[in-house]
Amino acid sequence: MQNLFKEIEEKSLIPLRGLGGFTGPIGIFDSGYGGLTILEKIRTEMPDNDFIYLGDNARTPYGTRSFDVVYKYTLECVTYLFNMGCQLVVLACNTASAKALRSIQQRDLPLLDGNRRVLGVIRPTVEAVGAMTHTKHIGLLATTGTVQSNSYPLEIQKIYNDIFVSSEACTMWVPLIENNEHNSEGADYFIQKNVQLLLATDPEIDTIMLGCTHYPLIEAKIKSFLPKGIKLISQGEIVAQSLVDYLKRHPEMDHRCTKNATTRYLTTESVEKFASSASIFLKQAILAEHIDLD
Ligand code: DGL
Repeated sequence: MQNLFKEIEEKSLIPLRGLGGFTGPIGIFDSGYGGLTILEKIRTEMPDNDFIYLGDNARTPYGTRSFDVVYKYTLECVTYLFNMGCQLVVLACNTASAKALRSIQQRDLPLLDGNRRVLGVIRPTVEAVGAMTHTKHIGLLATTGTVQSNSYPLEIQKIYNDIFVSSEACTMWVPLIENNEHNSEGADYFIQKNVQLLLATDPEIDTIMLGCTHYPLIEAKIKSFLPKGIKLISQGEIVAQSLVDYLKRHPEMDHRCTKNATTRYLTTESVEKFASSASIFLKQAILAEHIDLD
C-alpha cells in the first residue's frame, strides 16, 4: 500500500488520503453552477441515489483557462470527491470533459484507484445528437475552451464520419448567467449575435447542441433567435439517460453507488454566495458546505 501511495505522489498531483471506502455517492463535478442543470436531470432519473455536487465556484470560469490549468483543477476536484467516498464521478462540465477527462481516465485513474470511474458529458451528447440531424450539419454553442479543444467535432467524427460540425464560442454567456444578467437587453444582444454568427457559418445546420451546462437557462431565449425547424438540444436528459444506461451495463458499479436519496453540495466559494447563485439554477433553497482544495 505504501508503494501505491508513493507512486501516486510521484505521478499525480494529489494522492488519495485513504481508500475512501468501497461504496459511496455519485460525484457530480462542475466548474461552477452549470452542472446543477445536469444534477437535476440525473436525480429525476435516479431519485434513490446519493449525490455529492462539487462546484469549483472560487475558480470558475474554466472556459477561458488553458488545458494545463483546467486539467489540474479538475483532477483536484475529482480526487476530493474520491476522498469523500465517491466511486463514480461525472464531469458535468463540458470544458473539463474536453480538456481533462482523457488524461484523468488514462493517466491518473489507474494510479488513484483503477476500480473507480470518471465519465464526461461530451460523448453521450454527441452520440444522441448525431442521430437527430437530417442534413448532417450540426451547430455547437459552447465556451471558448470547449470550442478550441475541438472535442465535439473529433467525437462526432469517431461515430458519424458524414456529419459536419460548425462551432461558435459564446464568450459572454457564462458570465452573464453566473451574474444573473441573462434576462437583460444586454444579454439579448450577445445571445442573438452568437446564434446569428453560428448560422451564418453553415446555413445547412438543422440541429444545434448546447455544449455548456449553463446554457439550458437561456434555452428559450436562444430558441427565439432561431428560424423555425432548427432543433436545439440541451444535454441534461441525454447525460442522465446515458448514466442510467451505463449503470445497467455495469451492475458492479451500480452496487457501489449508495442509495439513500441524499444530496450534499460542496463549494470552493462561500456558502452564502453558492446558496444565492445556485437558486438561479435549481429552484430550491440549498445548504452548501465550503471546502478548501489545498
Ligand atoms: N460549465 C462549463 C461548461 O459546461 C462552463 C463554465 C465555465 O466556463 O467554467 O463548459
